[in-house]
Amino acid sequence: MRIVRTIADLRALLRPLREEGKRIGFVPTMGFLHEGHGSLIRQSAARCDVTIVSIFVNPTQFGPGEDLANYPRDLEKDQNLCLEAGASVLFLPEVSEIYPTGFQTHVEPGRLAEPLCGGFRPGHFRGVATVVAKLFNMVQPDLAFFGQKDYQQTVVTRRMARDLNMPVDVVVVPTVREADGLAMSSRNAYLDEDARRRALCISQGLLAAKAAFDAGERSTERLLEIVRKSLAEVDSIQYAELVDTQNLEPLPEQVDRAAVLCVAAYVGTTRLIDNVLFTPASPGTGSAPTLKSS
Ligand code: PAF
Repeated sequence: MRIVRTIADLRALLRPLREEGKRIGFVPTMGFLHEGHGSLIRQSAARCDVTIVSIFVNPTQFGPGEDLANYPRDLEKDQNLCLEAGASVLFLPEVSEIYPTGFQTHVEPGRLAEPLCGGFRPGHFRGVATVVAKLFNMVQPDLAFFGQKDYQQTVVTRRMARDLNMPVDVVVVPTVREADGLAMSSRNAYLDEDARRRALCISQGLLAAKAAFDAGERSTERLLEIVRKSLAEVDSIQYAELVDTQNLEPLPEQVDRAAVLCVAAYVGTTRLIDNVLFTPASPGTGSAPTLKSS
């Protein structure tokens, strides 16, 4: 596995591979990798000739008072995970490489960035879309792999790639969970024993709602009620919403199309998100569609 730190070195490394017709896979991350990232890298390695993993804690997607300064880091562990999962290249740029002095151009996502996390993290998806667009331009991947846990991020990214005519397929990979159901997240590292125990009610509520859906329940209100009841152990709920998978608009009464049930909640000072997919045509699959841009 090669490690590169500059855009020039990355381009020099990838140019001949692209000329040879190699299929390039890309997994953008902010580091402190876990098996959720491992599964993205493994999927890329299985489907592509070359897999690039970037580790870059992107300052523009953090709001004031968020955890940018304390974001967990463990480069040695990350390198081992990348190597073991099959990455070919690890891209480790400095902030000044991505945002040099004078930087002033941003990608402004539209309506898809407004609901759910967008309502609580102003500017977050502008920062995500900007850095992902820049990384896509640097790597020029054929396929890019994102985790379903950040569902809104996958939808915003797919829209951005389509709208800006980026020739990349955005592939969404199902959430990897701990043995007890907690969605894997770098931010789980912030949870102490009590918070870790209480955080479990998020996945328990979502999976209970999914079980009810699989058993035939289609009422939006009743499915939301199952989740809300389960969230008694969190300290505050930002949102629990059942929305259309494509446009992220709330489903008024019935789950009559592909939907995603999304939760954001604080356990102590840690903000956690999770979701489950409902597909009326084939209940029980829960897998995310492959999203193709043109
Ligand atoms: O999901 C993440 O880790 C980040 O939002 C991403 C996609 C790497 C952009 O900084």
